[in-house]
Amino acid sequence: MDIQKESFGKLPDGTGIELYTLTNSKGLKVRIMTYGGTIVSLEVPDRNGKPGDTVLGYDSLDGYLKNNPYFGSIVGRYGNRIAKGKFTLDGITYQLAKNDGENHLHGGIKGFDKAVWTAEPVRGEGVVGVKLSYLSKDGEEGYPGNLSCTVIYTLTEENELKISYEATTDKATPVNLTSHSYFNLAGQGEGDILGNVLMLNAEAYTHVDKGLIPTGEILPVKGSPMDFTSPKAIGAQIAEVKGGYDHNFVLRGGGAGKLELAVQVYEPTSGRVMEIYTTEPGIQFYSGNFLDGTITGKGGKVYQKHYGFCLETQHFPDSPNHPNFPPTILRPGEKYTSLTVHKFSGK
Ligand code: BGC
Repeated sequence: MDIQKESFGKLPDGTGIELYTLTNSKGLKVRIMTYGGTIVSLEVPDRNGKPGDTVLGYDSLDGYLKNNPYFGSIVGRYGNRIAKGKFTLDGITYQLAKNDGENHLHGGIKGFDKAVWTAEPVRGEGVVGVKLSYLSKDGEEGYPGNLSCTVIYTLTEENELKISYEATTDKATPVNLTSHSYFNLAGQGEGDILGNVLMLNAEAYTHVDKGLIPTGEILPVKGSPMDFTSPKAIGAQIAEVKGGYDHNFVLRGGGAGKLELAVQVYEPTSGRVMEIYTTEPGIQFYSGNFLDGTITGKGGKVYQKHYGFCLETQHFPDSPNHPNFPPTILRPGEKYTSLTVHKFSGK
């Protein structure tokens, strides 16, 4: 197993960005940069052991700075949308930055995806990793409290990529951190993801309005195109979902803090399999609906509609405005923890 560190260029203000490459001895290799704590590439062996990069992104820092729909980013302080960027906590109404029409999306104008994280390598028995830290200041994007965050990425010899999140605060604040990789298990840029076969361990999803804001209703997936309880090609019923999939699924595991199977994806041509386990109660399944061929990514590949899917483990969107959703408020003295494990195999 190995950890390498190199430069990945500079921000316009001269800040140096580092790139860490983690490898295990089974052919799994992930590259992570300190800008946005971003997963830049994720090489996974196919059924014959041949490695292929399974996530969308750019070859160099420049692309990430110019036009980045959160490729591989850490998303925070609050993943997904908060209606009108507004919530009331302990009698105080907070107004967050609006960056998605009238709503707040993925932490605002300068979310955690655009922060420069401090990195240090992590080595343990059978694991290599990188620990990233970021202090989100009181008032940043409108949020209350200094939020001290760490995200640890580790690779294991069992072909797992683990993402472990922690945060503490000095004022009550909503927190909902996630990771925003766009996957194609056939290989990045190798066509659309409609043939990737998905199982989602979810019997319900949170219903949304036109602006993708939850109405508060939790609907059963049974008998609808949202039903992925048995494995199904992503494309099988996508035409029946207006705009494509962009929904939060309510995981069976329920987010009781225990690591539970949330997802299995199988890609028939490569034989790659990805399982996702999480302690979170929800997962946003986004089928790359807004990709439209205007982005040229790694290796000159043009990313068309549905060229990647995201599976973002999370608490439900807009939870601060829905008392019936699992709570997302972190208070001083408490610790936010969240763990997601991506396990790769071939068949
Ligand atoms: C959201 C989409 C959004 C996308 C941005 C996803 O997590 O659910 O609605 O457009 O991120 O890239």
